[in-house]
Amino acid sequence: MKELTTQQLRKEYLGFFKEKGHTVIRSASLIPDNDPTVLFTTAGMHPLVPYLLGAKHPGGTRLTDVQKCVRTGDIDQVGDATHCTFFEMLGNWSLGDYFKEESISYSYEFLTEVLKIPSDRLAVTVFEGDSDCGADTVSASVWEKKGIKKENIFYLPKKNNWWGPAGITGPCGPDTEIFFITDKEKCGENCSPACDCGRYVEIWNNVFMEFFKNSDGTFSPLSQKNVDTGMGLERTVAMLNGYESVYEIDVFRPVIAFIDEHSGKKDVRGARIIADHIRTATFMLGDEKGVTPSNVDQGYILRRLIRRAVRFARSLDFDATLLADISRMYIDEYEPYYEELKINSEKIISELNLEIERFGKTVAQGMKEFEKLLGYIQNNRMSGKAAFRLYDTFGFPIEMTVELAKDNGITVDVEGFEKAFREHQEKSHAGAEQKFKGGLADNSEATSRLHTATHLLNACLKKVLNDDNIQQKGSNITAERLRFDFNFPRPLTQEELKNVEDAVNAIIKENVPVVCKEMPVEEARKLGAVGVFSSKYGEIVKTYTMGKYSMEICGGPHAANTGELGHFTIVKEQSSSSGVRRIKAVISGAESESKPE
Ligand code: SER
Repeated sequence: MKELTTQQLRKEYLGFFKEKGHTVIRSASLIPDNDPTVLFTTAGMHPLVPYLLGAKHPGGTRLTDVQKCVRTGDIDQVGDATHCTFFEMLGNWSLGDYFKEESISYSYEFLTEVLKIPSDRLAVTVFEGDSDCGADTVSASVWEKKGIKKENIFYLPKKNNWWGPAGITGPCGPDTEIFFITDKEKCGENCSPACDCGRYVEIWNNVFMEFFKNSDGTFSPLSQKNVDTGMGLERTVAMLNGYESVYEIDVFRPVIAFIDEHSGKKDVRGARIIADHIRTATFMLGDEKGVTPSNVDQGYILRRLIRRAVRFARSLDFDATLLADISRMYIDEYEPYYEELKINSEKIISELNLEIERFGKTVAQGMKEFEKLLGYIQNNRMSGKAAFRLYDTFGFPIEMTVELAKDNGITVDVEGFEKAFREHQEKSHAGAEQKFKGGLADNSEATSRLHTATHLLNACLKKVLNDDNIQQKGSNITAERLRFDFNFPRPLTQEELKNVEDAVNAIIKENVPVVCKEMPVEEARKLGAVGVFSSKYGEIVKTYTMGKYSMEICGGPHAANTGELGHFTIVKEQSSSSGVRRIKAVISGAESESKPE
């Protein structure tokens, strides 16, 4: 097998698929475009959803890339041999081009001829079939023809061999997964890639995307059959080099050595957690769409990661101010491939340091609270509620409270803490679900009007700036204002802003009816609708049309007539991130405007 580094594997993979007629595309941002159902890009296919649904990709019908991904669902497992919150996914796609036979042939050729993995070290799984979709005997026979031993081909159910959608709805289909067979013996008679005894390590997943999962849970056939594949870069490098853990690969090795060197105590899991979390934080802070620590959404995840790294640094007796040095190591390592890290390097370091400092201060305040709480302790035991207050208000992780308590000769009701934690989580999940529903904070009339105004703003920006490439890059609406992000290379002039306002207000004055129509996504696209053909929409989409001015795919709700909107005013225009501008606008006097006939 070829003992490749991450840099080398990236190069080999992209080179191989380029030779097979694929266009190499750049990794998209870690923040999904207009998909409110997930916070981060979780797979290479995620940014390609519109194209998997039939939109034409400028790169053609064969694409390949390395995509930055974040998955925080398994955060508690980070520190074991395979889990990371950030990872890179190698992928190749066929958009209505080749299907099972060629996809499997390419994978087999890459694994056995480029990576030089012996064929008998490979096992594959295929979909066993159910009432939604038949058994995938086609894939199984292609694998066999290629040379995979029959005993290494496993038929498994939907739980194992079905991928997607990335969000709640979207493209998905049966998959065939490829595993490396390690030296570990079978764990029993029924040992298969479905068990996690460690004998089989998953390296690649080829999804045959033929279906769209609707919000009611049913599957509709897609108009084109696609292939979506994903290979975990870190895992594959570890496998090729015979490492037991991803934390031994080239990008982590120097970081782990640095942590060990500067730690008072040695702890494998703690060091891995620091290495993982700081890498993820570096990519989030350096992302082209720029995330900063906050108490909501992506910013909150980032905050948690940084604070968790600081906490583990403390427990290792590792000076938290050195975390920025780790971030610098990652910037140097990755910037040849991800130039945004270089462009944003100052921001990454300063925001990271700022958050570490902020956390230091909260901890100091929390310590005062902790000492106060000690005064109320009964039976040498701290209540779960008190521990939760330390967590919720001062960011004290429970492990830290337990440690501090121990130093003071008391115990903590951890179960009580967990109960309080769960109750809180249920509450905030309910809130988050509500918030993400259709991307709107609420469905009041005020937000409906602002939502309609957003469509007009989108249309008028294109017209006034005479730029058809302008696209929505993000939208956030509260009852008070709209916020609209779009790609544009420079600040708008006062005159341009005034012209945009005037253009929007002219359409409002015209009392144009807002017409909602449902139609297949292809038809909407043909009719020139703008909007994101993304996973949150069904195959049948809602379009909102305002005369000749605007047609957009959107979940709604909207005003019935532009005349209901009142007066539109832009209150701020600023940079959102590199190449993306942000406009905040309000509408006033809506109530006093005459209603349409
Ligand atoms: N989307 C599939 C996955 O994430 C293949 O890329 O595994």
